[in-house]
Amino acid sequence: MIDISQVSKTFGSAGPAVDDLSLHIATGEFVVLIGASGSGKSTTLRMINRLVEPDRGSIRFAGVDIRQIKPEALRRRMGYAIQSTGLFPHWTVAQNIATVPQLLKWSKARVADRIDELLTLLHLDPDAFRGRYPHQLSGGQQQRVGVARALAADPDVLLMDEPFGALDPVTRATLQAELLRIHALSGKTVVLVTHDIDEALQLGSRIVLMNHGRIVQQGRPIDLLRHPANTFVHDFVGRTEIGIRLLALDRVASRLRPGERAAGEPISAELSLREALSAFVARRVDRLPVVDEQGRPAGALCFDDLLER
Ligand SMILES: Nc1ncnc2c1ncn2[C@@H]1O[C@H](COP(=O)(O)OP(=O)(O)O)[C@@H](O)[C@H]1O
Ligand SMILES: [Mg+2]
Repeated sequence: MIDISQVSKTFGSAGPAVDDLSLHIATGEFVVLIGASGSGKSTTLRMINRLVEPDRGSIRFAGVDIRQIKPEALRRRMGYAIQSTGLFPHWTVAQNIATVPQLLKWSKARVADRIDELLTLLHLDPDAFRGRYPHQLSGGQQQRVGVARALAADPDVLLMDEPFGALDPVTRATLQAELLRIHALSGKTVVLVTHDIDEALQLGSRIVLMNHGRIVQQGRPIDLLRHPANTFVHDFVGRTEIGIRLLALDRVASRLRPGERAAGEPISAELSLREALSAFVARRVDRLPVVDEQGRPAGALCFDDLLER
């Protein structure tokens, strides 16, 4: 879908922001670019939709060199969501979402339908929200509108630059879960930038870790946790937290002892092992009863089995 080939970009007299970077992003992938501030993530993202032109190298979109696609045309096919500043303050929610559909000269009725459909998808009541202005929304609601706007013209690709950066942890987790749901539903290709390793592990089907404009390591979340390519990756994913983060990637069902019993309030086999760890700690027990999705007894989870890895 997106082919970045040996791309470099230098601003002014500083070292390169992006340095000979190559990256292939397949249709339907959810790729997370992660790295410290200044590592070249945003520049990489902005080269994909021609907000920044590379000095060297080429980028192809669906097989076509993007230099042959007008920036406006390209941006209609690639939704772009950034931290809350992205909304136009003097436009209503509806007008903000309608930006690209109006450029595309959709009929009024079609635009109105699409606004309601997207507000509903993002769990905002259309009647309550379409006429509001950004300053009348909470940070989380603004971010939802930002995501709705990026999705408005049903783009093939969603480019997101720290879209949840300014949010409190609970709102952030909710929106992350919703983004995953939308991705699973729509099959869109998503490229998301973050500096938060937990967000990257939670969202990415592939994580690309950048440093000084280069790719240090890429792979599935579990690959980065289990097989960090070097000490930089290891330190970045967090030495002490690796065990806990691994637990977040697995379900209770994977460590269940089927048929065994335990006392107390059962937990769901669908919980992550990280959530189960919290339950062990909170209840000061070393065995927990587990039920399946239908609430039927499925077995027991033992604390020692968490530590196996
Ligand atoms: N428009 C710009 N003008 C000058 N320097 C820039 C510009 N955009 C980015 N840079 C520089 O390029 C480097 C990479 O920036 P950026 O891609 O924004 O990193 P990240 O998103 O990983 O924090 C930084 O040193 C930054 O200061
Ligand atoms: Mg950035």
